[in-house]
Amino acid sequence: MTIILGLESSCDETAAALVDSNRRILAHRVAGQEEEHRPFGGVVPEIAARAHVDRLTPLVQGVLADAGLTLDDVDAIAATAGPGLIGGVMVGLVTGKALAHAANKPLIAVNHLEGHALSPRLDNENLAFPYLLLLVSGGHCQLLLVNGVDDYRRLATTIDDAAGEAFDKTAKLLGLDYPGGPAVEALAKGGNPKAVPFPRPLLGSKEPHFSFAGLKSAVARAVAAGEHSPADLAASFQQAVVDCLIDRSRMALAACPEATAFVVAGGVAANQAIRTGLTALAAEYGKDFVAPPLWLCTDNGAMIAWAGAERFAKGLTNELDVAARPRWPLDPNAETVRGAGVKA
Ligand code: KG4
Ligand code: ZN
Repeated sequence: MTIILGLESSCDETAAALVDSNRRILAHRVAGQEEEHRPFGGVVPEIAARAHVDRLTPLVQGVLADAGLTLDDVDAIAATAGPGLIGGVMVGLVTGKALAHAANKPLIAVNHLEGHALSPRLDNENLAFPYLLLLVSGGHCQLLLVNGVDDYRRLATTIDDAAGEAFDKTAKLLGLDYPGGPAVEALAKGGNPKAVPFPRPLLGSKEPHFSFAGLKSAVARAVAAGEHSPADLAASFQQAVVDCLIDRSRMALAACPEATAFVVAGGVAANQAIRTGLTALAAEYGKDFVAPPLWLCTDNGAMIAWAGAERFAKGLTNELDVAARPRWPLDPNAETVRGAGVKA
């Protein structure tokens, strides 16, 4: 049994957790920065980096105290090394390096996307490789075949915006508070998803990609026209996203009969309408549908600690000169797609 300390700081959540190789979450803490970013309607990278500096070390002290452990009890230190807002990534990675050096423990540089991709296995010991993963977050919208730790085949990605970005921009257009995803979902509950005929970009296309920029422009035009209630706009927008995610996922499921399950992860996976649509799709293909609990879908330290535990078990540790990477695709063989993965 090994115990891993995980650090996350790639966007606007500062997080630390202690997880063991038996899937026990010994402690986890997340500090959000919503108050700091709200006046700007989105994440300001410089403000995020400074907030990580203030909060990360106290969070590490906090999780060690919660678990009644010291750094001596930890077997390795895992930190997000990218992709993400580089100032924040550097804060977490340098903190991890300093702790690893001071305590004489191995360092594991974790790809934030691998954190999301493996997080369903922390919650579900029966989830076996390979599985089909829909990764939907604020900066990414990808379909991946997860063959194993450090072994990914990308089947689709976005050619412009990520799904979470589309939610956040729609929220802004509707005058809702940041962060936008949960606010749009709440407003959509009282609206008619068929009220506004929004476009479904790339629906039915043979190209294995997502696109949300045209949908966002259509929302902007509809808001400006003023003919629909905010609730109808939110519900119709959300339905368009659900339809796009289902259509592209259907294509991937048809292409990957070897997948043991259909899994969704990333912050947007917290959305109940999306979960409901994907559950039905998985059933259509006779696959188990797996979605981690909501707190494990949005950014957190436990997913980084768990990815660290999976890598540690395979002997995948890093030297202390490992670099922070603003961009870091999970599948190194995938073609570069314009616009994909610009943010994390
Ligand atoms: O994975 P995450 O916490 O951070 C990134 O790595 O990007 O994802 C954050 C994204 C944001 O765009 C947020 O608006 C979206 O996930 N999100 C949601 C919901 N909760 C969070 N989108 C739709 N519905 C939700 N309930
Ligand atoms: Zn994330």
